[in-house]
Parts: sequence; C-alpha cells; structure tokens
Amino acid sequence: MLRGSKVGLRARHDDDIPVLRTELYDDVVNGSRSEGAAWRPITPGSKDPRLVVDDTEQWRVPFSVVELDGGTLVGTATLWGIDNHHRSAHLGLGLLPACRGKGYGTDVVATLCSYGFAVRGLHRLQIETLADNTAMLRAAERNGFVREGVLRSSAWVLGEFLDEVVLGLLAQDWKPKPKA
Ligand SMILES: CC(C)(COP(=O)(O)OP(=O)(O)OC[C@H]1O[C@@H](n2cnc3c(N)ncnc32)[C@H](O)[C@@H]1OP(=O)(O)O)[C@@H](O)C(=O)NCCC(=O)NCCS
Repeated sequence: MLRGSKVGLRARHDDDIPVLRTELYDDVVNGSRSEGAAWRPITPGSKDPRLVVDDTEQWRVPFSVVELDGGTLVGTATLWGIDNHHRSAHLGLGLLPACRGKGYGTDVVATLCSYGFAVRGLHRLQIETLADNTAMLRAAERNGFVREGVLRSSAWVLGEFLDEVVLGLLAQDWKPKPKA
C-alpha cells in the first residue's frame, strides 16, 4: 500500500465495488462532471473498468483510497495515460461524498505524485479539471501543480459547455511530503 499522511492507496478489493458503484458512479452529477464521457449506469456484476481492475493494463493503475486510521474505503485514485516514452501520466481521483473536504483529496494527489515520480520514474504529471472545481484545483495547487492553460468550453456537462483547466507538475519541481 502507498501511504500518505491521512490516506492509503491500495489494490481494489471485491468489497469496494458495490460501495464505489452506489456512492460514486451512480451519482449522475458527479459522473457527468468527473468523466470524459456521458454518464451511464454500471450494471451490478459487470466488468466495468471503472470498478474492476485489469492488472495487466499498462496504461493505467487504479487504486482504492482508504483512511490510514481504520482502513475505511473513501474513494478511488488512478494514474492513467501512462506514457513511458515521454515519461508522463495523468492523475484522477474521486472521493465518496461524506469523505470530501477533510484534506483527503490533497493527500491523494500527494500520494499519486509519489507513485508517479518516485516509483514509476515519470517526468511530468498532469491534471485536467473543470474550471469551477475549486476543491480539485486547490488540492492540485497545494501539491505544486501549476495552471498551464484553459480549454475553453471543452466539456459538455449536463446541458452546458464548461471550461477545463490543465495543471502540470514536473519531477524537478516536486517536493515530497512527509509520510504519516
Ligand atoms: C475534488 C476532490 C477530490 C477534492 O478532495 P477533497 O478531499 O474534497 O479536498 P480537500 O479537503 O483536500 O481540500 C482541498 C482544498 O479545497 C478546498 N475545498 C474543499 N472542498 C471545497 C468546496 N466544496 N468548495 C470550495 N473549496 C473546497 C479546501 O478548503 C482546501 O483548500 P486549501 O488547500 O486552501 O485549504 C473531492 O472533493 C471529490 O472527490 N469531488 C468529486 C469528484 C471530483 O470532482 N473529482 C475530480 C475530477 S477532476
């Protein structure tokens, strides 16, 4: 398990799947804002890649996020779009509604950075988020990510086009956080 200061990133367990499906992916608003495709339900028992991990996939590494104190499941985190030539990847995360606003997201970003830079030897990490997602923007900037541009009207979200912000962090600018 990867350890941050408040959360850990571990492998996906079967028990996580119904919780993530019900509390995260069944939420139309959250799904429409967080994913780059139209929301659609996940059928119980299906092998939907948002929930069921294929360990042979090289281009992404999905984690379940748990509280270090007690091990309760609080969300998901993914290093995706891994490019071993350009040594870059993207970060994605989503926390269960009751677990937001407690500093976990900031810690997840820090822990994914540690995985991307220290474990995988990557050079550049990137985050894309809606321009009105203050919590995601802050969680990224707290970890040293820099706003690199705005993709105007790039996301169709529940009836309107919204801007997305691209943030990047280079290995040389990364400052590892102390662990728990
Ligand atoms: C975005 C998300 C991962 C952030 O994680 P979080 O644990 O809620 O955020 P944190 O508690 O670490 O807070 C980070 C910062 O945002 C601020 N913040 C938190 N929730 C906020 C909110 N609802 N509105 C405005 N600011 C907020 C915090 O005060 C903190 O600011 P600071 O660094 O200046 O102190 C989480 O809210 C989430 O899962 N949201 C739904 C899914 C999503 O949007 N995923 C990202 C898709 S790109």
